Amino acid sequence: MTRDTQRGRSLRKALLVCVLILICIAIGLAAFHKTPWMIPVAEKARKNPLSYSDANVTAAKQIYSEQCANCHGDGGKGDGPDAMMYDPSPADLTDAAKMTKLTDGEIYYQITEGRKPMPSFKKKLMEQQRWQLVLFVRSLVRAPAPPPPAKQPDVPGNKQPEPSPNTQK
Ligand code: HEC
Repeated sequence: MTRDTQRGRSLRKALLVCVLILICIAIGLAAFHKTPWMIPVAEKARKNPLSYSDANVTAAKQIYSEQCANCHGDGGKGDGPDAMMYDPSPADLTDAAKMTKLTDGEIYYQITEGRKPMPSFKKKLMEQQRWQLVLFVRSLVRAPAPPPPAKQPDVPGNKQPEPSPNTQK
C-alpha cells in the first residue's frame, strides 16, 4: 500500500514537472513570437499587377492612413498611436534589411491574411487596394543611408570657431 502511494506521489511530481515545463515553453513562445510567416510558395511568387504611379500611391496612402497608420504609424515605423497596445508590436515597415527581402506576393499575403494582432484585410479591402498598399509599403522603406559626406576642403575663413579654452571648465 505504502509503495503504491509512493509511486502515485512520484508520478504526480513528474506530471507537475511536465506541466511546468509546458507552461514555460508557452510563455517563451508568447514572448518571442517572432516565428517567420508561413507563406505558400505560389503566393510568394505573385507579382504586383499594378505599377508604380502617382494615382496608385495616392490611393494607397489614403487607405494606409485609415487602416494601417494607427498601428504602423504614419511613416511606417511601427509607432502608431495604438502600437503599444499590441504584442508583438506592429512591424517596422521602414526596415530596409527586412523589407527588401520580401517579395510583392509576400507583402500582399501578409496584408490579405494578417497575423494576430494584425487583422486580415481580405474582406475589408478589395484586391486592387491591397496591391496598391504593396506599392505604398515599398515606398516606406528608408532609402539606404547616404554615403558619408565627402570631407570638405579647408576653405580659409570658413573654419568652425574652435571652442575657446577659457570658457571651458
Ligand atoms: C492592429 C494593428 C495593426 C493594423 C491595423 C495593421 N497591422 Fe500590419 N502588423 C501588425 C503587427 C502586430 C505585425 C507583426 C505580426 C507578426 O509578425 O506576427 C504586422 C505586420 C505587418 C507586415 C509584415 C511585415 C514583416 O515584418 O514581415 C506588413 C507588410 C503589414 N503589417 C502591413 C500592414 C498594412 C498595409 C496594414 C493596413 C492595411 C496593416 N499592416 C494594418 C499590426 C497591425
